[in-house]
Amino acid sequence: MIERTFVALKPDAIKRKLMGKIIQRFEDKGFNIVEMKMILLDDIILEQYYGEHKGKDFYDNLVSFMKSGSILAMVIEGEDAIKNVRTMVGATKPWEAEMGTIRGDYGLSTPNNIIHASDSLESAKREINLFFKN
Ligand code: PPS
Repeated sequence: MIERTFVALKPDAIKRKLMGKIIQRFEDKGFNIVEMKMILLDDIILEQYYGEHKGKDFYDNLVSFMKSGSILAMVIEGEDAIKNVRTMVGATKPWEAEMGTIRGDYGLSTPNNIIHASDSLESAKREINLFFKN
């Protein structure tokens, strides 16, 4: 089934100049990038984006990291995109992520785990709408 998913390259990926390499992986796999923009996030959008995690011990650290520089927001389209992109991204904690995944190859710690990808159809719709409504 052809789906669309939301992907964000986090500030650490931008600062480390990994954008090109990561985009290349998605294109090499056969996905299409159908929307893309650089954004500097603020508290208002972050509260909507990560609202479900508010109150967790890592929340403040995550939010301040996500405001530390621009992100690259993308909509990626292709076969079973939500599941397949998450597989390419790898486990949340980079030290648990398999080599060959994006976090396994480029990440070492949280919150600097390089990339976010929607985990369900519902999240994909919500996140695409949040970042690309207009
Ligand atoms: S949970 O509690 O299982 O629902 O959390 P999880 O799905 O693993 O992660 C939710 C987002 O929080 C990020 N995260 C962290 N950030 C900073 N520090 C720590 N310790 C930490 N643990 C998890 C994680 O990367 C998720 O954000 P996204 O943008 O989806 O990667």
